[in-house]
Amino acid sequence: MEKQNKLQGKTFIITGASSGMGKATALLFSKEGAELVLSGRNVERGIELVSEIETMGGKAIFLAGDVAELTHNQALVEAAFQHFGKLDGLVCHAGMLGLGAITDLEPSLWRETFAVNVDAVFYLLKFALPELLKRPSAAVVINVSIAAYKSFPNHPAYCASKAALLALAKQAAVEYAPSIRINSICPGPVDTPLIHASAAAFPDPAKAVENAGKNTLLQRLGQPEDIAKLCLFLASEESSWITGAAFNIDGGILAKG
Ligand SMILES: NC(=O)c1ccc[n+]([C@@H]2O[C@H](COP(=O)([O-])OP(=O)(O)OC[C@H]3O[C@@H](n4cnc5c(N)ncnc54)[C@H](OP(=O)(O)O)[C@@H]3O)[C@@H](O)[C@H]2O)c1
Repeated sequence: MEKQNKLQGKTFIITGASSGMGKATALLFSKEGAELVLSGRNVERGIELVSEIETMGGKAIFLAGDVAELTHNQALVEAAFQHFGKLDGLVCHAGMLGLGAITDLEPSLWRETFAVNVDAVFYLLKFALPELLKRPSAAVVINVSIAAYKSFPNHPAYCASKAALLALAKQAAVEYAPSIRINSICPGPVDTPLIHASAAAFPDPAKAVENAGKNTLLQRLGQPEDIAKLCLFLASEESSWITGAAFNIDGGILAKG
């Protein structure tokens, strides 16, 4: 029997697609038949990803921009209609760390972290939800972090913004049920450029990434592809009775307490 693609003919916007988990999600969604509007700031990596997807026979466009800008989010939704004539879902991966202890952190960096991690998702939802309401089986996946539940040294802006994002995702799920399913994922340590940047804020930066993997029950860092598989499940009909949920995907680190 021929394999059925899980997202055949669906159009998704993916933010943070130029790197890490966003890139892995874009590649997996494309293999499963989705048409993609990809967002990021790094134009070179965005163009490379589009060409990789096209070489595999997929369809994608890349829009460079800052997710903290209202207009970039509007442009992403417009691009979905311009290029593919519809929008079926979102995967919001874009995020930043905003490192620094409370007493050292510049208020401007605190604000920027909230703008990228929280305001951006609010903006994208604001433009996308009215369109998603018109589609059958629309789905939204929001990348939060275990940082919404757990503190990390010198990560106050990150942890606080991710907790706010988790609350926003739950609120959106309640307001837009039953038409749109909206779920969050809370990754633990995943091997992307972001976790290597995060290590700088730990007392022993050289060991921080290695320890982060070893400290999970499964004794390794997550890979971006591990996260992409959960995004696919939550974006597809396989999760048709799941909304308003937050999935820990953390190698078991939260279970350890
Ligand atoms: N890695 C982990 O251990 C971990 C754990 C839990 C949760 N997370 C979350 O996972 C998500 C993806 O991060 P990642 O680990 O895959 O890191 P990554 O490889 O560094 O990717 C981050 C992505 O976000 C984009 N981005 C950042 N600021 C942006 C802005 N102002 N405007 C537009 N795009 C912006 C980056 O685009 P450019 O590179 O083009 O600037 C990049 O595509 C983030 O929300 C992060 O908080 C990560």
